[in-house]
Amino acid sequence: MKINKHYMDIEETYLFSEVAERVRKFMAENHGAALIKMGIGDVTRPLCPAAVEALIKASEEMGTAEGFHGYGPEQGYEFLRGEISDYYDRNSGVNLFSDEIFVSDGAKSDLGNILDIFDVDNVVAVTDPVYPVYVDTNVMAGRKIVKLSATSDNAFLPMPFPGLEADIIYLCSPNNPTGAAYDRQRLQIWVDYANEHGSVILFDAAYESFISDPDVPRSIYEIEGSRSCAIEFCSFSKTAGFTGVRCGYTIVPAGLVRDGVQLRKMWLRRQTTKFNGVSYPVQRAAAACLKDAGHKQIMENIAYYKENARIMAETFEELKWPFTGGKNSPYLWVRCPGGMKSWAFFDDLLSRANVICTPGSGFGECGEGYVRFTSFNTRDNTIEAMKRIREIFT
Ligand code: MLT
Repeated sequence: MKINKHYMDIEETYLFSEVAERVRKFMAENHGAALIKMGIGDVTRPLCPAAVEALIKASEEMGTAEGFHGYGPEQGYEFLRGEISDYYDRNSGVNLFSDEIFVSDGAKSDLGNILDIFDVDNVVAVTDPVYPVYVDTNVMAGRKIVKLSATSDNAFLPMPFPGLEADIIYLCSPNNPTGAAYDRQRLQIWVDYANEHGSVILFDAAYESFISDPDVPRSIYEIEGSRSCAIEFCSFSKTAGFTGVRCGYTIVPAGLVRDGVQLRKMWLRRQTTKFNGVSYPVQRAAAACLKDAGHKQIMENIAYYKENARIMAETFEELKWPFTGGKNSPYLWVRCPGGMKSWAFFDDLLSRANVICTPGSGFGECGEGYVRFTSFNTRDNTIEAMKRIREIFT
């Protein structure tokens, strides 16, 4: 028996597990410290009333002979795919066919699972810093990775360069971790690159609902030519507070064909083999969040987090700490003061302010010297964290 040796090529622990471990150790030595978590991007607002109502109603239906649902369609119920398709139409002016939409338990799983349909010899391009899932899932499979530096010199938005040979390209916009977002022009350059080279863009749109800038597309399908080169991943986690409920979706356009095969058909084959779909009550709740009343409620939560981000940005500006993000994104990517390294600043902030951030170096070499803060905490905690930071660093 042989194990998959590629697992030896990744860090022993996932970034957020390492952060959690350091916090656990700190708490063991500092009982009762009033920690404020601005590390992992987990939401704090409760589910919106429309989602709760739909969950209850669907669960009650499941307790009746007429309303009981067993295995659902692997691709997701038509009622949810219909709502997603209407949402794209309203939100981005994008028309999707229902059979291009695949409902799942979240973008993270799909971003890793999609690799099943690609050969191991493909070269993968990722930005650096990067959401660790893109790198780790490919390294686990033994794929070669090319890193595209995202630094203040390119506004944290790497572009294709002469000589770049990439078969699979991960783009996350608005970006996790930097919060930077591609505008239409820049995204068009990536789409043209992918079509010319026969590459596939894996576009992570998990933070699209935080976009306020009209120049920033909410979906890659707003860009001409994208339907023949891009797969889009999205999630209800950050948009509707579903991190503990689990629901997302992936779009594989019918026009995306490689080696004469529709990738949509391959993904359908993969999902029908390895996945049994998302539970009926959860899909009802997700659908409720896209209808008028529910959507208004979830956007109130997004506005709440965006106001937190504004408060944080104000503090970092006052302290003259260079940062990006926070405008179209719940993340603020902040340069550590005094040239400190990421983990050193993480430890300093934890011990002196009892505030948890995420060390930028955990997202890649170019993240060294930065940390990421999330705006997902409560208003009171956000204000309190900023007060502590101001007191210590002013
Ligand atoms: C993050 O903090 O980067 C996110 O919570 C990760 C995720 O959505 O899986």
